[in-house]
Amino acid sequence: MGRFSIIAYTFGILFFLVSCSFAIFYGYKVMTHELPVEANTADKYQYHFILVPEELDNEYWRLVEKGARAAAKEYGVLLEYVGPKQANIEEHVKTIEMSAASKVDGIITQGLSDEQFTPLINQVVAKGIPVITVDTDASNSNRLAYIGTDNYYSGFLAGKALIKDTKGKANVAIITGSFYANHMQQRVKGFQDAVKQEEGIKVVTIVESEISRVKAAEKTNQILQDYPGVNAFYGTSALDGIEIAQVIEKYKRQDQIYIIGFDTLPETLEYIRKGTIKATVVQEPFQMGYGAVKMLIDLTEGRQVPPIVHTNTQIMRLADLQKMERDRLEENQ
Ligand code: BGC
Repeated sequence: MGRFSIIAYTFGILFFLVSCSFAIFYGYKVMTHELPVEANTADKYQYHFILVPEELDNEYWRLVEKGARAAAKEYGVLLEYVGPKQANIEEHVKTIEMSAASKVDGIITQGLSDEQFTPLINQVVAKGIPVITVDTDASNSNRLAYIGTDNYYSGFLAGKALIKDTKGKANVAIITGSFYANHMQQRVKGFQDAVKQEEGIKVVTIVESEISRVKAAEKTNQILQDYPGVNAFYGTSALDGIEIAQVIEKYKRQDQIYIIGFDTLPETLEYIRKGTIKATVVQEPFQMGYGAVKMLIDLTEGRQVPPIVHTNTQIMRLADLQKMERDRLEENQ
């Protein structure tokens, strides 16, 4: 072999060895460290929970979702918010069944009616999937806990507020979200119990809005025609008060007709500022969502939680709203 061949041969071997080490090094890197991003993200979450609202785009439920997402972010939970586009019990039930079939780690839902929700919740819990009720309880079911308003008490508070504000004299029409949902029945019952000793307070009619804005407005119009003596309205779900107020303003009767509603959505607060809605029952939807996720984590990790957590409920009138806004302003200064 000549000198030139020896040099060429040595370079050849060197080149081969260097290529091999590169191949081994990068091959190892791909196999062990640089996994696809998707696999890494799936590992980020400890649990997969589902929150089923009564109505997906309802502003009240968006606040429950906001609270739930805040807790989910804090504790590394994958939270899905799925449910009917417009309130619909069959779709609600179907969403719960599908979530249970896909073996999620926990479900947060309302316990809307004993008839449909109690057997369903019991089936899901029997499969080993924990269920927490939020906003509305199905207290006879095997749900592991409830977090939300004490709905009977909130209706009772509304009744007491109406007695005070109308000085014990009013012909009241009640517009309720649904005749069949547990929380709506309790809000009506609490109210009726609060006013039943008052001789000057009469409940002249109770109608359903199906938590739809259009229906709440239609029913208000109808009541004004059918019961000309009505001078007070009680709306038991978040959108009822807003629609009652809109119709009352249309007829320019805000000085003669008293309105008490539920919740503190921006439109409700606007009607309180204008004086059309005189009072509203405050609920804590953000707290409900946040607390529900936290409770599911505690349960999953074997910690005990109280079976019933009642979030705060109180009455807000114009003076309370103004005070709240002043306090907030001072806090931000
Ligand atoms: C109730 C919710 C309901 C919503 C409807 C709220 O007052 O707590 O259960 O879905 O009103 O707008």
